[in-house]
Amino acid sequence: MLAIKQALSKQHVGKKVQLRGWIYRTRSSGGIVFATLRDSSGIIQVTVKKGNVPDADFDSATMAGIESSVIIEGELAEDKRAPGGFEVRASKFQLVGISEAFPITEYQSTELLLDQRHLWIRSREQNAVSKVKASLLRGAREWFHENGYVEVTPPIITAVAPEDSTTLFQIKYFDRIAYLSQSAQFYLESLIFSLEKVYSLTPSFRAEKSRTPRHLAEYWHMEMEAAWMSNEENMEVQEQLVTAMLHNAVKECSDELRLLKRDPATLKKIESPFDRMKYEEAMDILQKKGHDVSWGSDLGAIEERTLTIDREMPVFVVNYPKELKPFYMKENPDDPRTYKNSDLLAPEGFGEIIGGSERETDDAKMVAWLKDKGESLDNYKWYLDLRRYGSVPHSGFGLGLERIVTWVCKLEHIRDSIPYPRTVARVYP
Ligand code: 4AD
Ligand code: MG
Repeated sequence: MLAIKQALSKQHVGKKVQLRGWIYRTRSSGGIVFATLRDSSGIIQVTVKKGNVPDADFDSATMAGIESSVIIEGELAEDKRAPGGFEVRASKFQLVGISEAFPITEYQSTELLLDQRHLWIRSREQNAVSKVKASLLRGAREWFHENGYVEVTPPIITAVAPEDSTTLFQIKYFDRIAYLSQSAQFYLESLIFSLEKVYSLTPSFRAEKSRTPRHLAEYWHMEMEAAWMSNEENMEVQEQLVTAMLHNAVKECSDELRLLKRDPATLKKIESPFDRMKYEEAMDILQKKGHDVSWGSDLGAIEERTLTIDREMPVFVVNYPKELKPFYMKENPDDPRTYKNSDLLAPEGFGEIIGGSERETDDAKMVAWLKDKGESLDNYKWYLDLRRYGSVPHSGFGLGLERIVTWVCKLEHIRDSIPYPRTVARVYP
């Protein structure tokens, strides 16, 4: 049994091949069935001619509609007109599982494709996105491993809100209330006192009510935290990590990227270092381009688009005003209105894929902030303890996996970067 991608090769021409998969397209005319077979690796044309296969097999080929699963055997031939340049002339055609009329045909509405997500994930686009995602992840894990980071497994059920308490998912936790994690950051911070350099890949949850093409209610979050690290070094980690991820995807998935209409060359030429742009400079650029912004304005999708639309490389925006970012960030001694932090924006108009910072080590500052926000200090006691027992300068960041996949795969909407997108409107299938 060959994978289709392996079969598409001159070395098999004139030889018998055996393939299995699902019917991708089919039509018949005058005693010939022209079927396209797909498996996880690709598609190939199969012609089934009456007389060349047993009659029962020919009947099966006629009956096998789109998405029926089949096993075929035949001779590989070159055919310029066929997708991939080859076809199989069948001598056997075995129907394994017949498919009812497939509910997805060409030109379907977005809603129908979301209702039929369990079937739509069979599409070639979804297949390619999943492979690119796996390849980006592999690139990241390899980079972390080579650079001495330990992968750790923080909890998902928590009592703390590292980011924004308005986007917490509450759950009933026995006889108490708990939350689904928004970020593993606090737990990673606790682990650096033992392991120094850690990272994790976990689901993160944000009860985002807004429907935007870049927000999911559940996404995969790759986070890292390191002891003895400044925010400048933190940005160096980010640019090297992102470069390693992109280059691995180019190495392993160039065909998939092309299928998604992403030219791998545009990713291959991305190399660290990336530019650094102060929040203040970002404001200047935006004002010059006609945006109504001033000191203290947040950068949303529209502003980030303007900042990155003409860029081919990612760019860091650094030193945001404190009022825009969470309390755990380290004050910038050069400009105490700001933090030692950065957001990494992907180019081509895409925007934020990473948020990171050096962390505050002064627990008095954190306590004052938490009290000011009316947060219960009880829940944060353990986190504040980390500043009391041998605190060290440290930094870290969080990368939204679906964000980078959306950008790399040139998807219009983040929902297509994950098999089962969870949004305010959807939890089925
Ligand atoms: O910028 P955020 O909120 O930062 C944190 O959670 C930090 N505690 C991370 C850390 O320092 N360990 O989220 C980090 C990244 C964003 O840059 C974005 O890529 C992604 O997570 N992200 C989302 N992705 C999809 N859907 C959402 N609703 C997202 N919210 C954030
Ligand atoms: Mg952010």
